[in-house]
Amino acid sequence: MGGTDDIADWNGRRALITGGAGFLGSNLAHALLARGAQVTLLDCMLPNYGGNPANLAGIAESLDWRREDLRALDPAALDALVAGQDAVFHLAAQTSHMDSMADPLTDLAINATATLSLVEAMRRAAPRARLVHASTRQVYGPPQRLPVDESHPLNPPDCNGVAKLAGEQYALLYARVHGLPATALRLTNCYGPRMRVKDARQTFVGVWVRLALEAKPFEVWGGDQLRDFTYAGDVAAAMLAAAAAPPGRVAGRAFNLGGFPPVSLAALAELVIAASGSKAGFVTREFPAERRKIDIGSYQADDSAFRAATGWAPAVDLAAGLAETFAYYRSRLAAYL
Ligand SMILES: NC(=O)c1ccc[n+]([C@@H]2O[C@H](COP(=O)([O-])OP(=O)(O)OC[C@H]3O[C@@H](n4cnc5c(N)ncnc54)[C@H](O)[C@@H]3O)[C@@H](O)[C@H]2O)c1
Repeated sequence: MGGTDDIADWNGRRALITGGAGFLGSNLAHALLARGAQVTLLDCMLPNYGGNPANLAGIAESLDWRREDLRALDPAALDALVAGQDAVFHLAAQTSHMDSMADPLTDLAINATATLSLVEAMRRAAPRARLVHASTRQVYGPPQRLPVDESHPLNPPDCNGVAKLAGEQYALLYARVHGLPATALRLTNCYGPRMRVKDARQTFVGVWVRLALEAKPFEVWGGDQLRDFTYAGDVAAAMLAAAAAPPGRVAGRAFNLGGFPPVSLAALAELVIAASGSKAGFVTREFPAERRKIDIGSYQADDSAFRAATGWAPAVDLAAGLAETFAYYRSRLAAYL
């Protein structure tokens, strides 16, 4: 097989996940293998990112994991990587907003240049394979209105947002100009099993979960900001839906992905305490000045376009998702510290 229009059944299909040992990539790998797909992962486990061998527990033997850096692959190696794939899920990224400001050229090389190399390889060697590109709500910057739909102005607040926007636009450009069936999903706050909990580098929810499990208080900065959250399993389902939908509905488009109605960070903190049973609670602190400069404030996605195009809807609400998350980390925390 390799190269397709519609994917009604993943059984026997070939899928490549870049960034597949990370948080969302590994959840997607579990979902694809459960559906009978043949999965290749590309992940070089960059230090301080979300990659963790524990994310692949139970499936590492069933997939082909290439520990290579996307930036280092020459065109021939990239062509060989994508050739024969039915779907490519591009999740390898530099995701830290603060790091993108401290080291913008690394952020650019991973999020923009390596994405361009990947779509170039797909143009040459896998022009009919479905491409699902993991983009971010960060491309909108501080919302001018809520909820944010795809017609909202693009105004990235940091180097990460600029480079992620470039990567997304390369994918969509290749759809328009070269007919590559590429779809971008602009993700909001994602959480769930396999997220980085060691620190707040990936998501503040991660360090809240860790501290609650350790019966230590966690810090809530501000507390009034509204955020919407997507459970990792729902993100994986959305990526599969994007790859499987008729190209005429999704190719060449960027869609928001949200979830259930947003909550304030203070309300989220209460839910975390309730799900964990932590007696240590949380402390509220003023938003740190160095972060405020690149913070986007409140956010809520309008993801009705994606739901209409694919039929996807979130299945796991915050209370259930947090319960799943604590159930996962209770027995595995040591592997994530
Ligand atoms: N997690 C979220 O809440 C969220 C929100 C918005 C967008 N996203 C996007 O979703 C995607 C996945 O994010 P995540 O949270 O799973 O991140 P993650 O850090 O857990 O996973 C990314 C993986 O990519 C790998 N990687 C990075 N650069 C690489 C390279 N050059 N070559 C090979 N491997 C490389 C890393 O080692 C890591 O394992 C990213 O594109 C991110 O921008 C995530």
